Amino acid sequence: GKQIKLKEVEGTLLQPATVDNWSQIQSFEAKPDDLLICTYPKAGTTWIQEIVDMIEQNGDVEKCQRAIIQHRHPFIEWARPPQPSARNAKDCMVSYYHFQRMNHMLPDPGTWEEYFETFINGKVVWGSWFDHVKGWWEMKDRYQILFLFYEDIKRDPKHEIRKVMQFMGKNLDETVLDKIVQETSFEKMKENPMTNRSTVSKSIMDQSISSFMRKGTVGDWKNHFTVAQNERFDEIYRKKMEGTSINFCMEL
Ligand code: A3P
Repeated sequence: GKQIKLKEVEGTLLQPATVDNWSQIQSFEAKPDDLLICTYPKAGTTWIQEIVDMIEQNGDVEKCQRAIIQHRHPFIEWARPPQPSARNAKDCMVSYYHFQRMNHMLPDPGTWEEYFETFINGKVVWGSWFDHVKGWWEMKDRYQILFLFYEDIKRDPKHEIRKVMQFMGKNLDETVLDKIVQETSFEKMKENPMTNRSTVSKSIMDQSISSFMRKGTVGDWKNHFTVAQNERFDEIYRKKMEGTSINFCMEL
């Protein structure tokens, strides 16, 4: 197993590099026209980053591919410097599990059974899926927030991309929107070295264990959850999400 020591800040597990920058993160002040992407890990961060950049660059692929995605969208938690995007918890858990298997900067996930417990108890980097989703959901009407669902983008990308465009105050032609839909498809982004993390060294991400662009589907949880795990999960979900009106699509 890997020897990764996470640190805890106010009950949330974080990577040491994040904790080192904690005071900077806390003093971060957004400017009026900043757009913050606030995804839970593995909810489609890279996908929405690419969509936002394509809209910003008016569909100009060359401009959009000027640098790797990590450099076009700096993580405020990792250096200096809202748009939450949510993905159903079960697919997030599966995606995070495979990500921890291949990412040498994160602890070994252990067996799937072990990881199930780790995830539902929020003992993963960036904390509990439940807290993240509930928190942003409750906040969404009080601030200028566009709340997106991974499953919606998957089902009707053009419709959701148009929403992002409008939120950004842009007005692009239909042909440009169609191009953005094509360029941000899973197949394209999996092949694109500016988005697929192929430039990250194998000592950090070993894509022979699991690809960063792994499957990109809704419902892969069905290939991982046992019937008993699924029942237990639904029970925990009901308790933790009680009083929340949010509704996730679990399969397409
Ligand atoms: P899977 O592991 O289920 O395949 P993040 O960018 O937040 O780390 O999220 C990664 C997840 O988003 C991965 O899920 C990845 O395949 C998926 N993803 C990335 N780009 C995508 C796209 N264009 N369409 C659909 N899913 C995408």
